[in-house]
Amino acid sequence: MIVLGIETSCDETAAAIVRDDGTILADLVLSQLADHRPYGGVVPEIAARSHLEHLDGLIDEAMRKAGIDYDALDGIAATGGPGLIGGVIVGVTMAKAIAAAAGKPFLAINHLEGHALSARLSDTLEFPYLLLLVSGGHCQFLMVEDVGSYKRLGTTLDDAAGEAFDKAAKLLGLGYPGGPAIERAAARAAARGETGSGIDLPRPMKGRPQPDFSFSGLKTALRHLVAARAGAKGIGGAIDADWGEAYALAFQNAVVETLADRSEAAIHVARQGAEKPGAFVVAGGVAANRSVRAALAAVAERNGLRFVVPPLEHCTDNAAMIAWAGIEHLKRGDISALDFAPRPRWPLDPDAPKRGGAGVKA
Ligand code: KG4
Ligand code: ZN
Repeated sequence: MIVLGIETSCDETAAAIVRDDGTILADLVLSQLADHRPYGGVVPEIAARSHLEHLDGLIDEAMRKAGIDYDALDGIAATGGPGLIGGVIVGVTMAKAIAAAAGKPFLAINHLEGHALSARLSDTLEFPYLLLLVSGGHCQFLMVEDVGSYKRLGTTLDDAAGEAFDKAAKLLGLGYPGGPAIERAAARAAARGETGSGIDLPRPMKGRPQPDFSFSGLKTALRHLVAARAGAKGIGGAIDADWGEAYALAFQNAVVETLADRSEAAIHVARQGAEKPGAFVVAGGVAANRSVRAALAAVAERNGLRFVVPPLEHCTDNAAMIAWAGIEHLKRGDISALDFAPRPRWPLDPDAPKRGGAGVKA
């Protein structure tokens, strides 16, 4: 079984071709980072236009790389949501057109499900497992019970962790995307022997039994500290490199400790359910952070759980995970209708209670 996967829900245009034994025949990602950098974040209109411009060429290249033609495909999978709707429409329309022209099944994939199942592409992993999905757009714990069966144990009430990294980096004048910039700055501070411990930042939600997140208070606390330090010169005018790096380290420490504490709570909650998790899996761009990975591996070990992180290129947005989720559905004979409507919001667990506050992530 061979499936073409298409991902266009945010700022990566991606196409991949994957076989049901886990072999990746092609795996291409075109980042739009340079297009969005001047704005310090993803601009939806620019993203949609860029997907439209590049997607067909990228799919051609993936097919060439795999050395197959459309007849050899058993299905065409595309992210159907959640995400920036302009981009999702581009990917879904392309996938439907190829499916109709080639007479192959179309599969609309939930982007979050792509992340949730990606660990099964790289590792032998049985259901159920506990997943922390932690990226720029998502920050939630899910019990992955089976393909199509997810229980959300907790989520962010405001920002996602990656978003917090991005905003903190902007505040510290470290550039975009913020996560890698903060990690590098923190490493420089640590190399000078700094610990960041003298900089007082909160660990939001620490110790609460319900495994939710909130990062807006941490962001505000950092803004106050930076403003106080910058004084009359104003934020942005007074960031001396050493000083900014120490704050980056303190901020990273706060996020890492928060993620570890929330993961302890999630494991505790997961173990109270009927289905006990066999592993703790982390996915999403923030899993690229070495301190985050080390802290979460330690949490898993302390709790006697296997720790699984997909390869970094499959932690961040990619199309191999969409093709793989397509295969998992296709194996179950579970295909989508050609009148599928792209979904800006698409919670994996529709029964999860709605959480209050602005900007709550699906
Ligand atoms: O999964 P992803 O590529 O896209 C989605 O948001 O779906 O994740 C991107 C996010 C950004 O917020 C970025 O700052 C963060 O992941 N990120 C990191 C690191 N690399 C990427 N955060 C912390 N440390 C990193 N090394
Ligand atoms: Zn994602």
